[in-house]
Amino acid sequence: MSNIPLAGVQACVFDAYGTLFDFASAARNCRDVLGDVIDKLTPLWRDKQLQYTWLRAVQGRHADFWQVTSDALDFALETLALDKPGLRDRLMNLYLTLEPFPEVGEVLERLKASGLRTAILSNGSPMMLDAVVRASGLGTLIDAVLSVETVGVYKPHPRVYQLAVDRLGVPAAAIAFQSSNAWDAYAASAFGMQVVWCNRYGQRPERLPGKPDRTVRSLAELPALLRAPQT
Ligand code: 2OP
Repeated sequence: MSNIPLAGVQACVFDAYGTLFDFASAARNCRDVLGDVIDKLTPLWRDKQLQYTWLRAVQGRHADFWQVTSDALDFALETLALDKPGLRDRLMNLYLTLEPFPEVGEVLERLKASGLRTAILSNGSPMMLDAVVRASGLGTLIDAVLSVETVGVYKPHPRVYQLAVDRLGVPAAAIAFQSSNAWDAYAASAFGMQVVWCNRYGQRPERLPGKPDRTVRSLAELPALLRAPQT
């Protein structure tokens, strides 16, 4: 995969869960009561959460990400026969304060220092995104927080990526979109954004429309891939 910088980028837009914020940190912070079963709980919870967004989108039966995330957690806890008192609420509250990945703060600082605008574009509800950004202390480094609730449909519907274009006032090709979720990265590419796939989880390439322009294992590699906007 090329490491030649992307050209013409005016804004960097980031997926939230899995890209800026580590959804695994919720269960990890319950290791005291769960032990190693967190290694089963996290992927089951995440996969079911995403499945519910896609299934609800196809059905036209939208519910926000807080509802979907809690429904998916109930499914996962029942599947793993985990019914410890207070555990469910503890996990849901931890989803509001997920840990940012270690490199995120420094990367956002470098992007802002180079004159680039930054934004989040996420399935998260406004309440969830406000909470997780505030808890992380990254709010001053993020110019816009965009939730799919504004358009009422989940990723990968094109209306979601159009929201970033409309709100930032730049063409899709001037946006560098970063996601660790391959299906999200491919959809943003098919929409017309320049895409850096942050392949944290070593996923294989998808057989879907679109193709990420660059692939990295950590966002720490991102600044080198972006030329500063022409002043
Ligand atoms: C997000 O929209 C897909 O969870 C991912 O933040």
